[in-house]
Amino acid sequence: MNKESLASHLPLHVFDEAIFENIVDDLVNKGYSIQLNNLPAFIVDALLRCQATISEEEYKTAGIGRADDFQHATEVRGDEICWITGSTEEGKLWLSWCEALQKYINRTLFMGLFSFESHFACYEPGKFYKRHVDAFRGQSNRVLSLVAYLNNNWSEEEGGALKLYIDENDNEGVTVMPQMGTFVVFLSEQFPHEVLPSTRERHSVAGWYRVNG
Ligand code: OGA
Ligand code: MN
Repeated sequence: MNKESLASHLPLHVFDEAIFENIVDDLVNKGYSIQLNNLPAFIVDALLRCQATISEEEYKTAGIGRADDFQHATEVRGDEICWITGSTEEGKLWLSWCEALQKYINRTLFMGLFSFESHFACYEPGKFYKRHVDAFRGQSNRVLSLVAYLNNNWSEEEGGALKLYIDENDNEGVTVMPQMGTFVVFLSEQFPHEVLPSTRERHSVAGWYRVNG
């Protein structure tokens, strides 16, 4: 087989499964995984380049609730979002990395993850997202949440932490700084969380894996 035909038989991207393995271990042990500065650099790079193609008009005020009772509720959340469709090579690379994680999780944990969707989110200074869960038991097919951060040199004084609460009775929470390359994965129904206001524009990518239903 010559080089060309060999290349055409290889998958488009081969991703390092060590990170996936680490996430799965955490999910088994705790139900969540905090990966400090562990998103592969070429994925961070793809997200930044994808983000750069989006104009300000494409960001829309985010809402709460399901499609039929969708409402803007700035007292709950103040971010602006733009869905990642895969219309750019960079967007496709991000989605294929998330799909590779999906396949790895299905292979190892039999979670039956069926689809994935994600959006960029921008929080202007002072904006926040009050304590919430991403899915209510029995009401949603979102089962696993993923949030990745795109902020260079974030310092604690700038606020904007993600607070992840271990259960509904936890008021202390685990603090995650939205530092570029850091990401978190957690079971959508199990972990209340919130975004604290920041003094600086805060960029994240939020995504959800769904089961078929
Ligand atoms: C969300 C969310 C967290 C973050 O969009 O549902 O909880 O840190 N985002 O941006
Ligand atoms: Mn959330």
